[in-house]
Amino acid sequence: MLPDFRLEKFFTRWEFAARHHLTASDAESCRLGELLDDPQELMDLPLSYIPSEGGLELRQAIAATYDKIQVDQILTFCGAEEGLYCAMHCLLDRDCHAVVTYPNYQAMEELPIQLAGSVSGLALRPENDWEPDLDELRSLLRPNTRLVCVNFPNNPTGKVMTQRGWLELLNVLRERQIWLFSDEVYRGLERDPSHTLPQAADLYERALSLNVLSKAYGLPGLRLGWIACQDPQLMQRLLGFKLYLSICNSAPSEWLACRALTRGAQLLQRNRQLTRANLCLWDEFFAAREHLFEWKRPEGGCVAFPRYLGSEGVEAWCQAMLEQGGCLFLPASIYRSGLGQVPADRFRLGYGRKGLKEGLEALGRLV
Ligand SMILES: Cc1ncc(COP(=O)(O)O)c(C=O)c1O
Repeated sequence: MLPDFRLEKFFTRWEFAARHHLTASDAESCRLGELLDDPQELMDLPLSYIPSEGGLELRQAIAATYDKIQVDQILTFCGAEEGLYCAMHCLLDRDCHAVVTYPNYQAMEELPIQLAGSVSGLALRPENDWEPDLDELRSLLRPNTRLVCVNFPNNPTGKVMTQRGWLELLNVLRERQIWLFSDEVYRGLERDPSHTLPQAADLYERALSLNVLSKAYGLPGLRLGWIACQDPQLMQRLLGFKLYLSICNSAPSEWLACRALTRGAQLLQRNRQLTRANLCLWDEFFAAREHLFEWKRPEGGCVAFPRYLGSEGVEAWCQAMLEQGGCLFLPASIYRSGLGQVPADRFRLGYGRKGLKEGLEALGRLV
C-alpha cells in the first residue's frame, strides 16, 4: 500500500478552495480556443481509441523537441504521473538498489521505496546551492544500483544543475551502465535560456526523459505526458505496463496536444515572460521583508523554496496565511523525505500564474 501523497492530498483539499494560490507548480494555462485554427476540426474528431504508444502525429511533434530521439523512442502517458509510475515498475525490483535526490516530488521517492530492495537519498542542500554532490553520489552506488532518479529544474527548489555537473553525472552512470530517470517536466522555464540542460535521453542510451504539457507549457488539463528513451526493450516493457493502466490517452487530449506543440515555442515564450515578471514581484516582496525571509532566486521552473525566519515557524505561518487571508503555500512538512533531512524552515511558492500581484497584496496585508 502506498502512503499518502502529501502534496496531492493537501491540494485536493485546498487547491480550488484557497483564494490566492501562491504555490502552483504549473505555468498559466491558455484557453482551448487559443489552440484551434478551425474549431470544426475538433467537432469532427472521432472519440475512438487511439494508438497506445501515442498517435504518430503527436509523437513526431514530441520527437522534434529532442536532438536525437526518434518517433519510435517516444511513448505518451496520461500526465507525467502515469509515466513515472510505469517507469518505476518496469525498472525496479527487490534485487536492486536505487538512488533518489531529495527534496523531491513524492512519487519519485515513494515508488522506488515500495519497489526496490533498498533506496538511498542524494541530498540537495541549500548550503551547496542545491547542487548534488557527485562524490556523494559515487559513495552511494553499490554493485546492484540499477537506477538514479533526478529532477531538474527541480521541484521544490528551482535548482538547475550546472552543465558540467550534468555531463559528469551522465558519465558516472554510463561507466556503470546505471539507468537514469530524469524528470524534466519544468524544462523550458530556465531563467537563463543558455542554462537549459540537454535532455538526458538524447545523451545517454540508458536514460529516460520524462516530460509533460502540464508545467512549462501550462496545460495540465490535457493530462498529456511522455517518456523518451533510446532503449527499445524498455520501451516495449513500458508500453506493456501502460496497457494495464490507461491503455491509450484521451483522443481529444492528444489532438489538442499536437496543436499545442505546434505553438510550443510561443507558449513557452509567454510563460517565460510571465515567470520573469512574477519573480520581480517576489523579489520586491522579499526585499521589503528581509527580517522574515531568506530568498534566493530559483534558476528554473516556476516554484521556489525560500526560508521563513519568523519565530512561530513555517508550519504555523503557512496555516495562518491560509486561514486569515486565503493565501496558499506548501510548508516544508509536505516535502519531508524518508531518505534524509529536508530543511524544516522552508515553504514552496509558485510564480508561473497570472494574478500574483493581487495575491501578494493580500499576503502583504497579513505579513
Ligand atoms: C517534478 C514533477 N514530476 C511530475 C509531476 C506530475 O505531473 P502531472 O500532473 O503532469 O502528472 C509533477 C507535478 O507536480 C512534478 O512536480
